[in-house]
Amino acid sequence: MKLRVLLAAAAVALGLIAAPAVTSAVSSDPVAAQANSNLSWSGRKSLTEYVGGPAQVTVSEGATKLKDNVTYDWPFVSSDYNPSTKTGSINFKGKVDWWHSGYNFHVVISNPSIVYKNGVGQLWADVHSTLEGQIDSKGRDAVWDLSGGDTIVTEAGEKLLAFYAKGEKWDPVNYQVAK
Ligand code: HEM
Repeated sequence: MKLRVLLAAAAVALGLIAAPAVTSAVSSDPVAAQANSNLSWSGRKSLTEYVGGPAQVTVSEGATKLKDNVTYDWPFVSSDYNPSTKTGSINFKGKVDWWHSGYNFHVVISNPSIVYKNGVGQLWADVHSTLEGQIDSKGRDAVWDLSGGDTIVTEAGEKLLAFYAKGEKWDPVNYQVAK
């Protein structure tokens, strides 16, 4: 992963790739936690499709849609990550609301943080999942484990997301590395 990060940086320096488009998929790599730039993360593209496409997904509180319309930019807020202990958080802001108008359910994800403990990464967020009259699940927790580049729903995530079981895969998280 470290090599990949460096290669990405080199490609940007050479002008081979437009800088804003280059993100390093480093979800489980503590080296990447030196990042001080925004998170780009689509959450789950198949959810976007399922709810009827980008028009059914609303961004607010700083989150914006990138050119592809299915990846979101989550602005950097702060970081207390300590490379020597491989522990700490990288905090982002923004809110993304997936709404299925037919079934009238929402999955709302806000203010994601990448949190490392001894080099092991988890993705935290505020989650609010609702299904009219039946489900109202809200809280902040470690919703996804980050390992091997995957973003996997945790037990806490299963409870909060309501429509996803532990072990289900979401899209990888990406953020640029400050060198
Ligand atoms: C209130 C009712 C329902 C809710 C809250 C709901 C919610 C969901 C959610 C969250 C997903 C996962 C989307 C993703 O991230 O890829 C999903 C997938 C799916 N649902 Fe539903 N669903 C409901 C009713 C139904 C009904 C009635 C059917 C069939 C008649 C159905 C068929 C499917 C299928 C086939 C998938 C898989 C889609 C795919 O993989 O492309 N759902 N549903």
